[in-house]
Parts: sequence; structure tokens; C-alpha cells
Amino acid sequence: MRILFISPEGLPFSKTGGLADVVEGLPKALVELGHEVAVVLPRYRSTRVAKVLVPSLTIPMGLALRFPAIADGTVVNGVRYFFVDDPEYFDREQLYGVGGVDYPDNAERFAEFSRAAVEVAKHVWPADLLHCHDWQAALVPVLLKTVYASDPAFRHVPTILTVHNLGYHGLFPREVLARVGLPETLFHIEALEFFGKVNYLKGGLLFADWITTVSRRYAEEIQTPEYGHGLDGVIRRRADRLVGILNGVDYSAWNPETDEFIVAHYSAKDLSGKRECKRDLLAEFKLPAENLNRPVLGIVSRFVDQKGFDLIAEVADALMEEDLCIAALGTGEVRYELLFRELAARFPARFAARIAYDNVLAHKIEAGADMFLMPSRYEPSGLNQLYSLKYGTVPIVRATGGLDDTIEPFDPRTGRGTGFKFREYEGRALLAAVREALRCFRDQKAWRRLMLNGMTQDFSWKTSAADYLRLYQQAREVRIPRAVGAIQ
Ligand code: ADP
Ligand code: GLC
Repeated sequence: MRILFISPEGLPFSKTGGLADVVEGLPKALVELGHEVAVVLPRYRSTRVAKVLVPSLTIPMGLALRFPAIADGTVVNGVRYFFVDDPEYFDREQLYGVGGVDYPDNAERFAEFSRAAVEVAKHVWPADLLHCHDWQAALVPVLLKTVYASDPAFRHVPTILTVHNLGYHGLFPREVLARVGLPETLFHIEALEFFGKVNYLKGGLLFADWITTVSRRYAEEIQTPEYGHGLDGVIRRRADRLVGILNGVDYSAWNPETDEFIVAHYSAKDLSGKRECKRDLLAEFKLPAENLNRPVLGIVSRFVDQKGFDLIAEVADALMEEDLCIAALGTGEVRYELLFRELAARFPARFAARIAYDNVLAHKIEAGADMFLMPSRYEPSGLNQLYSLKYGTVPIVRATGGLDDTIEPFDPRTGRGTGFKFREYEGRALLAAVREALRCFRDQKAWRRLMLNGMTQDFSWKTSAADYLRLYQQAREVRIPRAVGAIQ
């Protein structure tokens, strides 16, 4: 099968979060299963390309025309890469905005991107199926069922939209439809209209042939008002076309036996290197070496509401009364950056924070910490808890979305389980889970068992890629003529 991925980010070219890991790992796994995969990405400032393939596409943008090029990014791991190259839109400091503020022309940027991606599918790399990711590519299914509805090139090409995070909609004022050249008829409750605005993700949810999200639990959660971000009604209507497929891990990048960024390698058979990694982590974070015998909790995250750090704020004093040490890495909203900086200032010997995006440090935390904290308010899949399992770094998580699906609570009596979980979104609950983990840490034998339970789990892409393939096949067999929305 020929599968074209359309995504706003993907490694090894661009990344702000887990989406980029997925858009690297899944295509690679599909190629290993014998399929042809290409990925269309925007060409951002940091992206180096091999050559220009199409010097100029003509893309209508309201009353104007734009002329992005399509660049060829060669083949990596058997996966073909194409880039939509429009320097005015994409040659910028960041991907989506700076200092927590979105770029004001994101509607235009990703409308052009989606349209150019459709043109790639038509003229450059005809595919059997288009697999679109998040709101930035959600216009692709909309375009196929409107602007390109009578185009024979797409008559048999189903679209799949994967929702990596329902919290990000691509929400814009009504005028945007005219500005990006989409028909006014789409400003309709059965299409892109959402409380008087234009919602790109809603369009994708209604017009895609199939919707997937990144864990089974999250597929259930997003049908409820609590987790639906106002779109739960739309999702419920499409429940028969919604599938939850858990993200996988690329163990060639995240494996303590081979990780190129850590000071010592280790495995389930020989754990000794982990202590070296812990020593190195403490040094990196300028934490006193006396912490070597204390449990170290690691955090690597985007600092946004989704990740649940207000729970840490709630119980920070009680948490720091415990015999533990914390190393946190992240960037994002100012209030969380402040929270972590303040804690580091108050507890310099036992709390260290690095406000940065730093892949090497992320690996060092996974390897050097004893526990990994993810108190997420919601978590569609989560990758870091899966990386943590592989590194023998025991996850402490809130039981939501992919965290709930992947972490089994440890029971010292049976020796089963892989981590610690709490359910209520409350500081007290987080504290109780941390205390339980600390108690267990003191029992060396039980702790070792717990580490090994996690390290021997297999979350490689193999299983999930096979699930996606089954869905791709089904999508090609069961084509629906039009979206649920009545709009032509
Ligand atoms: P999300 O996509 O919601 O951010 P995931 O757990 O799926 O959450 O994936 C996050 C990915 O981004 C992981 O690969 C993680 O290591 C990485 N990451 C997040 N914040 C940072 C950071 N500050 N520095 C380095 N890597 C980070
Ligand atoms: C999102 C989610 C995260 C998921 C990632 C990749 O950013 O927040 O849970 O793992 O996408 O699917």
C-alpha cells in the first residue's frame, strides 16, 4: 500500500512534542512491514533539504495566489520526505508561535500547507490513502470532500485523521474562510462552524473517512464532556468511525542498552550502568552527589495545563518534606516555568529545574532518574512513561488516557505491575502515589522487580503499526461517498 502522511511536525526534521516521534516511528514501522510511505511536512527554518522538486505550486489564498515550492528531503529509514517550502510562512524561529503566543497567520499557514499536501498527493506521489495528523492537517479531508470532490484522482483515496490532542482546535474568526479560499457554506454547524468561529479540527473530524486517536482510553474519554473540549458531541456522532491505537516506541532511539546520549549503558540483565547515569544526571543538574542514595524523580514535559503541574504547586511543601530529589526539564507557560524556578530556588540541594528544550537532557533524565512523574490532567497517549519503562525508571502517573492504558499499578504481594497510579485530579492523590512509590523504593528487592517488570515490556511500533494497517485496509474497502456533514 502507498500511504501518505501529512503532518505539521516529524523527526528527524522538526519537533515540539510526541507527534514528531510518532511521525518518525510509525512510517518507519510501516515500511518494515513492506509498505511504501511518504511524509509531507512544512519546511521550517531548521529543515535542510536535498533539492527542489516542484519550483512553484499555485495555491489560491482568498483573492491572492501563493506559490510554495515542494522540496525533496530524500529518503530516511526507507521513508520518503516532501516539504512544503514557503519561506514567508515557515522560515520562522518556531513552528507555531513564540512565547506561548500563536503566529497570527496560522490559519493561512496551515491552509496552504494542507492544500499543497493534497497537490503532492495528486501530482508528485499518488497515494492509496492520506493519513493526516492534528488540526494543522485537518483541512485535508475537508478539501477532498469540497474543493476536490469531483477530482477523479481522489475518488478512491480515503482519509484518516489522527487526533493526537483534542485540546488544540485551530480556532479562527469567521473571516478566515474567505481569507484561505474555502467555501462560505462550510460556516455551518455540520461543518467548520464552532460557537461562531471556524474550527479546523472539527472540519477534519466530520469530513475524514476515519478518525483515530492515540490510545483506547482516550478514544472513550473524548466522547465525554469532561475530556471533549466542546467537541465530544461531534466525536460521539462519529463513534462508529473512531479507533484508538496506542503509540509505539522507537527503541532504536530510546533504549538504555544503546542510547548514544547517556554515560553508561545498562539492561534488564545488568543494571549497574544506571547508577553511573544517576551520578551524571545529578552533576548535569548541579545537584549534590549525596542525592545518589535518595530516590530521584524526573520530569520532562511541555509546561502546559494539560500536564497537571498545578497539582505539584498544590502540595509542593509536603512533597519536598519527603526524602526525595527532583530533576525537571521543560518549557512552556510562564506560570509553570516560575513554579519550577521557585522550587529550585527554595530547595537548591534537592530540586533542580532546567527551563529548556533539550533532547540530550531528556535522555539523561530517563536513564538517571529512579521515578518519572506524569500527573497529567489528560494524556492522549504519552510517550515518556513508555520510555521510562524501558529505562527502569518507574512511572508515577495519573490514571488518564494512554497513561491509564499502559501503566499497571505495582502490587508488592504478587510482584506484578509497572508503576504507581492515582485517579483523582487532586494534589493529595498525587502525594499519596509518590509516598507509595517511596515506600516501595526502600524495599530493594521489590523495587528491582518493579524496574524489571517495566524494562521487559514491549511497546515497540510493531503491534500498533499492524493495527493501523488493518484500519487502512478497512478504510479502502469501506469508502463512504461523503462526510456526515451535508455540505458539498
Ligand atoms: P506531548 O506530545 O503531549 O508533549 P508525549 O509524552 O507524547 O507528550 O511526548 C513528548 C515528547 O517530547 C517526548 O519525546 C519528550 O522527551 C519530548 N520533550 C518534551 N519536552 C521536552 C523538553 N523540554 N526537552 C526535550 N524533550 C522534550
Ligand atoms: C500529543 C499528546 C500525547 C501523545 C502525542 C503523540 O501531543 O499530548 O499524549 O503521546 O500527541 O501522539
